[in-house]
Amino acid sequence: MALPVGDEEELELERLEIELLLEGIHRRYGFDFRDYAPASLRRRLRRRMDGEKVATVSALQDLLLHDPAVMERLLLDLSVNVTAMFRDPSFFVSLRQKVVPLLRTYPFSRIWVAGCSTGEEVYSLAIVLAEEGLADRVRIYATDINEAVIETAKLGVFPLEKMQEYTQNYIRAGGTRSFSEYYVARYDGALFARSLVDAAVFAQHNLVSDAAFNEFNVIVCRNVMIYFAEPLQRRVHSLFYESLATFGVLALGQKETIRFSPHAARYEELDAAERLYKKAA
Ligand SMILES: C[S@@+](CC[C@H](N)C(=O)[O-])C[C@H]1O[C@@H](n2cnc3c(N)ncnc32)[C@H](O)[C@@H]1O
Repeated sequence: MALPVGDEEELELERLEIELLLEGIHRRYGFDFRDYAPASLRRRLRRRMDGEKVATVSALQDLLLHDPAVMERLLLDLSVNVTAMFRDPSFFVSLRQKVVPLLRTYPFSRIWVAGCSTGEEVYSLAIVLAEEGLADRVRIYATDINEAVIETAKLGVFPLEKMQEYTQNYIRAGGTRSFSEYYVARYDGALFARSLVDAAVFAQHNLVSDAAFNEFNVIVCRNVMIYFAEPLQRRVHSLFYESLATFGVLALGQKETIRFSPHAARYEELDAAERLYKKAA
């Protein structure tokens, strides 16, 4: 005879199923979501369960382990790719005022955009660097866990209907030209200038499991760690600290925090609101 299961017990059971599922994903595919923030993880798993028409996390696990296509679809759900050009425009104003002068002091510098999604943030940065006369002296490395968004980013084509919103963002971000100079309309897409496409190297990189891969003068990581639980944020912060050159800048934007960084005391605050920090000597 089946025992009645109460709500609390049901939730506890689901927590166990999620733990097993994440363990399975890690062992089968190498993606490690075990330390992602539980509430948002649960929401996204439920969305995928609806999409795959299964009623339990265990049933989803069965599908996932046997069918990599289901894993790819879940990866899209888990990786929340929402982004925009000149998102939070005041961030770019601050970059121009506080970071560009530092970059001018180097003959050559490297910027890492971690969790770049479909690339809108990267092209925005490339535009700022071009307007500040730094295009030839700065290389952008843009990475994301999700191969599909990286492929989109490399194309430099964004929806035409977004251009009005992006033009407004660009102006509020301190843009000095006409935004339409940077793209041409092609079918239903806005194709961005070749020089902007070439400003960045795009590659897949997993912040949870991959190592540091270069030394950077600036690391931009916005709206990415908010999906990670505290211990994982700590690990990623250590990766950033190791990857920054002395006097390098960690640019987190308004939503992330440096609170969980084991090295927080070794940064000097450049902008409290935009969360820009300079690594001390
Ligand atoms: C909400 S988007 C942020 C995009 C952009 N930085 C912005 O602020 O507009 C978050 C991105 O982080 C990526 N991401 C999530 N987990 C990651 C991980 N472990 N390693 C690298 N990127 C990750 C997702 O794939 C997604 O593209």
